[in-house]
Parts: sequence; structure tokens; C-alpha cells
Amino acid sequence: MDYNIYFDRNDLSGIRQALATYGYCVVRQVITPDQVQRLKDEIDRFVDPDRTVPPASGKYHLTFAEESEVLWELVDDPEYMKLRTSLIGDTEVCLHRSAAILRTPGDPAGAWHSDHCGQRKGPKNNANDFLNRYSMPSGGWFYLNGSHPDRSGIAVMEYSHTEEWQPPEGFHMDDERRMLYRDGDDTPYSKLDAPGMVPVIADPGDLILFSALTLHVNMETKERRYSCGMAFRPKSIQIDVPWKLTEGAQKMIDRLPAHLKHYTEGYTSIDLNWKP
Ligand SMILES: [Fe+2]
Repeated sequence: MDYNIYFDRNDLSGIRQALATYGYCVVRQVITPDQVQRLKDEIDRFVDPDRTVPPASGKYHLTFAEESEVLWELVDDPEYMKLRTSLIGDTEVCLHRSAAILRTPGDPAGAWHSDHCGQRKGPKNNANDFLNRYSMPSGGWFYLNGSHPDRSGIAVMEYSHTEEWQPPEGFHMDDERRMLYRDGDDTPYSKLDAPGMVPVIADPGDLILFSALTLHVNMETKERRYSCGMAFRPKSIQIDVPWKLTEGAQKMIDRLPAHLKHYTEGYTSIDLNWKP
């Protein structure tokens, strides 16, 4: 590609401009090697404590901030929150959601998708339908092993963050604009060979950002891989979820030091047992 996607963490206008123009970017060295290692350790501890996740698979933790200490160490860093709030354009923010993903060697590529459920036409079936409806950067992700086409990580579809964007010739999306398909094939597409598909190259410690609508895919994995992400939203957006605050969320709120508790005002958590 003939444009720059790499920014220093203080270059807030460069970061915002890249997200607005290309739909993604990489912020260099937002966390230290020590924090990278401790996040990996936390993911091992909370996602795969008994080392039972089988080869060639992946496991998610959908409320990782409720367990992680390191994520809150970041929230406690004014520089980090200056970056995160500048992406939202509001300083009064709360924790929106968080996740960690562990993938084991041999896990195949995922399918191209957008996380955004704002165009959902049917009834709301899961937490994503309630939470992924807002125009905030979707990815605020640490790929703790880095990201590279030779080693796995994330690939994005450049420019796919706007509503006007159309899939490449020979491709289409479903009518809720979630998954990408090759014309005439009803299997969601997972290869990286169409125009606009960009494997993101990033180092451990870099923060990978992408916009709400940006299409992305996880590349095939050859090693034990760790990633985690945290999203914030303006407190002015209040979400009426049909589940009660979970025990895990309450424990996190109780555990947080007083000066960080305000980041949980408006946090909905996710009740994984909730069904419509
Ligand atoms: Fe995604």
C-alpha cells in the first residue's frame, strides 16, 4: 500500500485521520514488553488455566477486563486514556466491553466479517446485537505475538469502514453487512487474495485499531497466540440490556481502586447465559 498506517501513540490527529481515511491503523509500542508478557500470562490463567484448549482451535473470554489487572493498569495511565478518549471524541467514557482470544497452533483462518451489528434487521439474539451498534472504533486490540502474514494475526479490508464501500468485483456481503462471500458461494470467505485485503504487520506491544464497520479476518495460526482488546464508549450512550449486571462485573467494580471506579458507570457486562 502507498500510505502510512504506523503512528506514535502521541500522534492523535494522525491516528484519527488514518482511521477516518483507511479504516485502520497501528499505534506503535503502546505497552511495554513486560506488560505484553503479563497479559499473555493472564490469558493463560483465565482462558486456559488447565491447558485443555485443544490444538487447532481458539477460545474466547468475553469479559476479560473483569479478570485482568494489566488492562486496568493501562486505564490508570493518563497517556493511554488520552489516546483512547481521543478516538471517541469524549473524555467521559466507561468500559464498553473487553475480550481475550487464545488460539492454538493449526487454528485455520477465520472468515471475513465486520463486528458491527447496527444494521441488524431481525430481533436481537445475543450480546453483540446490543453492544456492537455504535460508531466507535471496534478494534482496540493488542496482538501480543505481533501480526504478520507469515505468523498469523489480523488482516483488514482497507476502506471498508464507510457505508458507501462496496466489496471487490466478484464478492458480496449479506444484507446485514456482516460476512463476505464470493458470488455463487455461500461459504463465508476467508482467503487474503482479493484487492484491498491487507495483512496487518505489527509488533507485540503495538495497538491495532480499526473502525466499527471495517472488515477483518484472523489469519491461520502456527503458534500459541494471544490477543486482547478493550473498548470504551461515551457515558452519554446508555444501553438498556436485558440482563442484570453479572457477579463477575460486580466483583471487578468492588476490586477497583476508587479513582478508577467511574469507568464502570454504565458498564453492562455480558451475561453469557442470557437468551432472548
Ligand atoms: Fe471481529
